[in-house]
Amino acid sequence: MTDATRAGNFKLGDLDVTRMGYGAMQLAGPHVFGPPKDRAAAIAVLRAAVESGITHIDTSDFYGPHVTNELIREALHPYADALTIVTKVGATRGSDASWNVASTAAELESAVHDNLRNLGLDVLDVVNFRVMFNVVAPTEGDIEAPLTALAELQAKGLIRHIGVSHVTANQVAQARAITQIVCVQNMYNLAHRNDDALIDSLARDGIAYVPFFPLGRFSPLQADALSHAAEQCNATPMQVALAWLLQRSPNVLLIPGTSSVEHLKQNVESVKLDLPDDVLASLDKIGSAKTED
Ligand SMILES: NC(=O)c1ccc[n+]([C@@H]2O[C@H](COP(=O)([O-])OP(=O)(O)OC[C@H]3O[C@@H](n4cnc5c(N)ncnc54)[C@H](OP(=O)(O)O)[C@@H]3O)[C@@H](O)[C@H]2O)c1
Repeated sequence: MTDATRAGNFKLGDLDVTRMGYGAMQLAGPHVFGPPKDRAAAIAVLRAAVESGITHIDTSDFYGPHVTNELIREALHPYADALTIVTKVGATRGSDASWNVASTAAELESAVHDNLRNLGLDVLDVVNFRVMFNVVAPTEGDIEAPLTALAELQAKGLIRHIGVSHVTANQVAQARAITQIVCVQNMYNLAHRNDDALIDSLARDGIAYVPFFPLGRFSPLQADALSHAAEQCNATPMQVALAWLLQRSPNVLLIPGTSSVEHLKQNVESVKLDLPDDVLASLDKIGSAKTED
């Protein structure tokens, strides 16, 4: 398999991670709920990710719930020193697969202990606080209380580093006034570029930006433009979408999600792509291409 380390590394606090990482959300059952169809296949994907050189795995105990963390533990524990597992708290799942806000100090402490137990760890490497004010888009609102609660859990030695997810620039600033923030995880890709200014300001401050949904929600028009660029580069549209993110800024870390070893291999291969200027210019226009309803 292609060596994932070719895309270089970035520091999450004192933790050195490969810019090409892996997002484990797709390993749970349909709608990120319940067990996977094929447990052995899910374990194989995790082991293949690590064998490719990836040292950054993104997860949460609310995927499943518990399922992806249990799979990570079964596949990879005891963990290599170099592996960084980034998790997130701020939500719980209902028995109907619903996503519910869980951001009181007691709920966050319980979520941290769930992650520790199910991952088989004494300390969590990085915990993102996932803001749940609005499921569709980051929405302004006060996050002082949950960030303070997480900072207290960090002071107790249960968390090494803290990040935030699904946040506005104001919320990033508020979080940074409370504790050191090492990463921001928001939706961003070729077609959804609301965070362009935020990415650049985080880069200046040495903070990682980790896009979720790196592979999509493209309109047909955007997908056509991406396919055209892919033909020019002799690559797949998804590889081009990932390579574009790697070239977007050195603080962008990738966590593409897949439940397939074959797709994982294809995604890791994007570290070899060097997109020429004319392709980058045509891809830059995708974000402003008219979205079809
Ligand atoms: N903070 C948050 O709120 C938040 C929200 C969503 C996700 N996340 C994190 O971000 C990670 C990435 O997001 P995501 O997994 O939802 O979205 P994604 O990486 O944009 O795309 C995943 C989808 O693309 C497919 N796929 C992946 N590689 C492919 C390939 N080479 N060819 C064809 N299809 C491919 C997957 O299906 P297959 O399984 O069939 O490959 C899956 O349906 C997640 O795993 C999770 O860790 C965070």
